[in-house]
Amino acid sequence: MTTESTLPSSAAEIENLMAEERKFPPSPGFVAQANAKASLYEEAERDFEAFWAKLARERVAWYRPFDTTLEWDLPFAKWFTGGTLNVAYNCIDRHVERGLGSKVAYHWIGEPGDTRTITYADLQREVSKAANALLELGVRTGDRVAIYMPMIPELPIAMLACARIGAPHTVVFGGFSAEALAGRIQDSQAKMVITADGGWRRGKAAMLKGAVDEALDTAPTIEKVLVVRRIGEHDIPVHMEPGRDFWWHDIVERQSDQHTPVPVDSEHMLYLLYTSGTTAKPKGILHTSAGYLVGTSFTHEMIFDLKPDDVYWCAADIGWVTGHSYIVYGPLANAATGIMYEGTPDTPAWDRWWQIIEDYKVSILYCAPTAIRAFMKQGEQWPRQHDLSSLRLLGSVGEPINPEAWLWYHEHIGGGNAPIVDTWWQTETGMILITPLPGVTTTKPGSATFAFPGISVDVVDGNGQSVPLGGGGYLVLKRPWPAMLRGIYGDPERYKQTYWSRFPGMYFAGDGAKRDTEGYLWLLGRVDDVMNVSGHRISTIEVESALVDDKRVAEAAVVGKNDPITGQAIFAFVILKSGIEADDDLANALRDHVAKVISPIAKPKFLMFTPDLPKTRSGKIMRRLLRDIAEGRKLGDTTTLADSNVVTTIRERSGVAEEV
Ligand code: WTA
Repeated sequence: MTTESTLPSSAAEIENLMAEERKFPPSPGFVAQANAKASLYEEAERDFEAFWAKLARERVAWYRPFDTTLEWDLPFAKWFTGGTLNVAYNCIDRHVERGLGSKVAYHWIGEPGDTRTITYADLQREVSKAANALLELGVRTGDRVAIYMPMIPELPIAMLACARIGAPHTVVFGGFSAEALAGRIQDSQAKMVITADGGWRRGKAAMLKGAVDEALDTAPTIEKVLVVRRIGEHDIPVHMEPGRDFWWHDIVERQSDQHTPVPVDSEHMLYLLYTSGTTAKPKGILHTSAGYLVGTSFTHEMIFDLKPDDVYWCAADIGWVTGHSYIVYGPLANAATGIMYEGTPDTPAWDRWWQIIEDYKVSILYCAPTAIRAFMKQGEQWPRQHDLSSLRLLGSVGEPINPEAWLWYHEHIGGGNAPIVDTWWQTETGMILITPLPGVTTTKPGSATFAFPGISVDVVDGNGQSVPLGGGGYLVLKRPWPAMLRGIYGDPERYKQTYWSRFPGMYFAGDGAKRDTEGYLWLLGRVDDVMNVSGHRISTIEVESALVDDKRVAEAAVVGKNDPITGQAIFAFVILKSGIEADDDLANALRDHVAKVISPIAKPKFLMFTPDLPKTRSGKIMRRLLRDIAEGRKLGDTTTLADSNVVTTIRERSGVAEEV
């Protein structure tokens, strides 16, 4: 199914925002102590390869130094070739060796209130034991390991154990369904799954092992399953298949806590992370070792202004790229002290985060605009009950942040003086690419401001020509960067096609952007068929194919509708086969089916039955019109429409579109 692409109609809103006069220059006090200096931009521009090479030499403990900074065979990049390293060694052992063994790596907080403190020395022992267990269970360097876990310490421990033996991991977000897990295992040909009986979410035990059992019916490459007991038999009975399934406490605990990290090449695969694209099949985004480590650790130190005493909290789930880069690899490479919280922000009450910040004196908070908007809705009485004065820097990621949410975050969470970094990046980019530098950049609420030093960003028109300041278009990247994806697993053609074919020689991010007259970048959201719901990427086509899975559905079209909390909400238009009666039960059954096939986060909030869909004469669904209908807007141009009655019919019915 192909569709047209247009800039979102929120362009007019952005126009208004750009007239926004409020500017926030860095305070002199912050500037005086900031890690980032304005000179970084010039230094990086002078010779970007030399800039990254110097950082790679300074920041990485190499077994063998690299020979070549960059081999660029567009669009295939290799960074720091000839070098060997171990990412887990860089994240743990070298800190222990220089005397930081007793420094806390993670303060972990379970949703029910249980806590654990894990130092770098603990991490070294636990990761070594887990690495030895993986070896005992037959995992070897190069084998893929799927990880499907709640936010418990064994999750980063499992990832680092994989990195330690050079076995690429593929973490599947615990909120994904058994089917989604099976698809990712099949594509990555993983040999083993590491999971847990379940995790605590909103006061309830959420089952995981059962979903693994279901997934394994169609994922025959899996030989062994390692299971952490998080919940206990009382709440989640677990079936353990003899010879295949092993409890973590049986296998890992009895291992030696000594393990020598395996040196791997700079370009050795560190992980795969699946993300939604414009087709029904998620793409395995491939990240490698040295460039990723350099990119994530340097951006983390500069953008979050990390100091040795900071308590840093990235409140994402490790199942998404934000957690990979900014809970695990970047912060650990910088020997940071981080917070890991298992549960939801409203459990037991809407001040859970503020309580954690007060208890642990968190100094840096990084989260998604959806969370900020949800807190705004609950009211500032929740944060006001707590001492948040330890916070000195705030970050935002995953979706455009509206100025109202930015200002609320600034005032009610940051106490009116903590700088805010609005960071733009993607699963594919591996590291933050567009962001203010705290202490350097004057921010404007709602703008992610400028490219990070060494990164070449442009906004181009449909012909790939740079648009003048003040104009809007497509966001592109014009030069390779160290943490960039190396490809889509097993599909180099799709990699070229998806990212490098729209504009020759440029990486097309899939986002629209505007640049104001001062050169500030304002992200406009996706221009392809990808929705952004609560900062999670969901493909319209993935949801459509889940809907047409049902034998009663003839055709489906899905669009994102603006939502005050989640950014976008999913709106599905469904055509039933003839003779099938449309009713609420069927609508609910279809929604539940999408949740089962993909994830509850992909469940359509609105579902409307319609006799037909607006299409161009060449048969393309006109999503622009469907978006107009979903938003209740005056319809755009319909002259290319095959049967304009269709729109009128849909429009009349949209009065009956129901919300869950
Ligand atoms: C969107 C998340 C506006 C964008 C790290 C991008 C943003 C997609 C921002 C990637 C931001 C991310 N402002 N939009 N600061 N950050 N996005 O792969 O549409 O889950 O293409 O990576 O999120 O989502 P992903």
